[in-house]
Amino acid sequence: TVTPLPPAHPAVPRVIAHRGASASAPENTLAAFRRAHALGAPWVEFDVKLTADGRPVVFHDATLDRTTDGHGPVADTPLAAFGDLDAGQWFDPAFAGELVPTLEEVLDLLVEMGMGANIELKPDPGREAETASVCLDVARELWPADAPPLLVSSFSPVALAVAREMTPQWPRGLVLEALTDDWQAGAAAVEAWSVHCAAELLSARGVAEVLDAGYRVMVYTVNDPGRAANLWDWGVDSIITDRPEALLPLAGA
Ligand code: G3P
Ligand code: CA
Repeated sequence: TVTPLPPAHPAVPRVIAHRGASASAPENTLAAFRRAHALGAPWVEFDVKLTADGRPVVFHDATLDRTTDGHGPVADTPLAAFGDLDAGQWFDPAFAGELVPTLEEVLDLLVEMGMGANIELKPDPGREAETASVCLDVARELWPADAPPLLVSSFSPVALAVAREMTPQWPRGLVLEALTDDWQAGAAAVEAWSVHCAAELLSARGVAEVLDAGYRVMVYTVNDPGRAANLWDWGVDSIITDRPEALLPLAGA
C-alpha cells in the first residue's frame, strides 16, 4: 500500500491546551479557553458532541454527572436544559455559574482571541456521521478563512471520513490510544495529517514509525515538563496539556 502524503500542514504549535487550561479552570468552558489565552497558549483542544436535539456542545463525557450539577446522558438532554447546568462549581466554587458552551460560543471566542484550535469530534456511538456533519457545518460557517486551519480530530474513522468530504481544507488527526498493527491503514483511509497518541503507551520507536510514514505526531495528555522534553526529543510535534504554563517555557513557543 502507498501512504498518501499528508496535506500541506498548518503552523501547529508545540503546546496545545487540553480542554482549555483545564488544570486551572473547569475543562471545556469559556473560562478554560480564556485562561489558556491568558497563559500564552496559542491553541486549545476541545471536545464536541450532540445534545438530544442535535445541537453541538463543547463537552467531554457521555454523561453530565462528572463536570456539571446535572445527571444523565448528554445525548438525552436538550440544548435548552443546558442553560440550567453549572459546569464550574465541581471544579472550584470560584467558577460557579460557568455554563456548558455551545460550539458556536467557543468558536466565536477563539476567533475573538485569535487562537487556533484542535476540535475533537466526540460522537456518541451511532451518531458519528451526524456529529461530524453538524459540527463541521457550524465550524465552516464561523471559522474565518484567514485564521489558522482547524485541526479536526477524532477517535472515530466515520467522523473523520465525513470531515474529509466536508472540510478537505482542514487537516485531520486520527486519535488513538496506542499504535495498533493496522494504524497506518486507518490513517491512510481518512487521509490524516496527524496521529494523536496517548503518552503512556508511546515509545521512541512508535514516534519514529509515525514520522517515517509521513504523519505528524501529537501526544496527549502530558503535564510534566520533563516528560514533555523527552517526547520532543523523540520528535513529537505537539503536546496536548492541561498545564500550558508548565510546558510553554520549554517549548520556546
Ligand atoms: O485529543 C486528545 C485527547 O483529548 C483525547 O482524549 O479523553 O482527553 O478527549 P480525551
Ligand atoms: Ca479531547
